[in-house]
Amino acid sequence: MTPALELRNLCKTYHLRQSGGVFARHSDHLAVRDVSLILPKNQILGLVGESGSGKTTTGMMAMRLVEPSSGQILVGGYDITALGHAALKPFRRQMQVVFQDSYSALDPMMTLAQIVAEPLHIHGLGTAAEQAEQALDMLVKTGLDRSYGGRYPHELSGGQRQRVAIARALILRPAVLVADEPTSALDVSVKAQIINLLLDLQAEMGLSILFISHDLSVVRSLTDKVAVMFQGRIVEEAATETIFTDARHPYTRSLLQAIPVLNPRERRARRFLSRAEIEAATPRLSGYGVSTGKPELIQIAPDHRLEAILQ
Ligand SMILES: Nc1ncnc2c1ncn2[C@@H]1O[C@H](COP(=O)(O)OP(=O)(O)OP(=O)(O)O)[C@@H](O)[C@H]1O
Ligand SMILES: [Mg+2]
Repeated sequence: MTPALELRNLCKTYHLRQSGGVFARHSDHLAVRDVSLILPKNQILGLVGESGSGKTTTGMMAMRLVEPSSGQILVGGYDITALGHAALKPFRRQMQVVFQDSYSALDPMMTLAQIVAEPLHIHGLGTAAEQAEQALDMLVKTGLDRSYGGRYPHELSGGQRQRVAIARALILRPAVLVADEPTSALDVSVKAQIINLLLDLQAEMGLSILFISHDLSVVRSLTDKVAVMFQGRIVEEAATETIFTDARHPYTRSLLQAIPVLNPRERRARRFLSRAEIEAATPRLSGYGVSTGKPELIQIAPDHRLEAILQ
């Protein structure tokens, strides 16, 4: 079956210009290196990795909100990498994004019904009355009753505002949702509610979700597959249970060790790997009949990719 979203060899170089008097210094930062990912229809793919590893850049490129330096983006099998503004518009409907602080973008002067209906208005779908009706339905789907339609963002809690952001993202019935740390700013109990909401909506609407998160316990409960990013590259990808029980890359293992541990004795026994140690500990695989001498992403099982050096 055609994947909902496919990223092929995506790279992103940010060109940085540091003004320093007469001599401005230029430098290039390779934020995403050769990332290939497949998000199958109706699945949730987790993207994890430490701060600065390139997760948001990858998600933004998938949406064409950041231009890739090279590589390809396919949505429902269509290559959208080079589409211009007008040609991209129908695909924009199919792809939506929810951020950690999406609700900070909610216009304080608009009612919740207006906020949720706005994408329908932008895309010219339906009459004003139909748009309002659909917005109220969507609010109900996200757990807010119809009476919320007339309220304003400042009247809501953080969790309720994130529900509104989700309602707004889903009103166009997108095929793909990029959720970039959507629960990071929320309390534990509210976080669980939003996760359950996403799971319900995913099943009900047949959504495919790229779920970006630092929070590995959330990732474990929500995703089907997990890709691990380290310094702009994918170093391991596998079914979620495989990642949590049979991780092979030292970076994945060190991330898993960083899951908060309640028992203080266990916490003390932990030791994190440094960057150099991780690089040095790149797995060596033999028996592949070739020797590469440098790390590359190898398919080690039907559903498991690992960055390793063949020898
Ligand atoms: N607009 C930009 N201009 C220049 N560099 C950028 C820009 N956006 C991101 N970067 C750099 O690219 C790298 C990857 O950033 P990115 O935001 O994708 O990481 P991330 O994995 O989402 O991190 P976090 O977990 O903190 O959100 C970082 O080194 C960051 O400083
Ligand atoms: Mg980010």
